[in-house]
Amino acid sequence: MSTSRLLLSALLGAGLAAAGHSDPLKERALKARAGTALIPDTCFDSQDDLETYFEYNYPWGDTHNGAALMSSAQVSIIHDAYLQLRSDYTGPQADNADLSYNSGTVYAKQHFTVEADGGLDMQANFVAPVAEGTWPAFWLDGVNSWPPEIDLAEWKGTGKVSFNTFNTSSEVAALDVDYPTPSTAWHTILVELRPESDGTTLKADFYMNEELVTTQYGDGMVGQPFYMIIDYQMLGSSGSSGPTETTYFDVQYLSVTSYNP
Ligand SMILES: *[C@@H]1O[C@H](CO)[C@@H](O)[C@H](O)[C@H]1NC(C)=O
Repeated sequence: MSTSRLLLSALLGAGLAAAGHSDPLKERALKARAGTALIPDTCFDSQDDLETYFEYNYPWGDTHNGAALMSSAQVSIIHDAYLQLRSDYTGPQADNADLSYNSGTVYAKQHFTVEADGGLDMQANFVAPVAEGTWPAFWLDGVNSWPPEIDLAEWKGTGKVSFNTFNTSSEVAALDVDYPTPSTAWHTILVELRPESDGTTLKADFYMNEELVTTQYGDGMVGQPFYMIIDYQMLGSSGSSGPTETTYFDVQYLSVTSYNP
């Protein structure tokens, strides 16, 4: 537990006791391994750093379930400090009238696997739009199949942030919670991915601004490789009408730490 989380617990009293880990002894043993930075939080310090760890677009191409055509032209590093994905309205595009935005997506070059007796922490700060038609997301997608999918954080145009784990297309743990001051404050999302003792079930603890929001369980997800994707999709799950002005999805201090053996 970080000092600030301890402080917050002390300030707010026993109500936050539930924000601790469900198995603190196991967690202490894991953390004693001194995690390996699979992606360091300096990954958005320059275009070179970005391109060391990430590729442009999706693993499968430049579109996915929405109205945005992705390209590297919409992806920037701002002030040598954060990643910015920019969405521009184009109107129906000549090659495909279902597409009406140019936007940006990156995915990690590495695949991420939670191993039995291991774990992964995935963390980043976000300024994410929540207006109708905007659909930014930070998510894990099975390399070998879909599902599995874990939405580390997804914003579906309702003013809320969603945390979701897909066992199958219909067996889904999903939680929407309020997302205050979306355009003016960085919010920290941390997801701790841990194996359960059965060796196959993956436990995901979702934290926002250092408070545990929810815990979800993924079937057979231990030992499975995942892509990590940061996309700024439009329309699709976030509604059928969206902004005609330029909008942005910003991501800062992304890190992935491994406690795998
Ligand atoms: C997904 O599978 C895990 C492991 O079997 C289970 O604990 C969890 O409840 C399932 N999720 C849903 C939404 O049924």
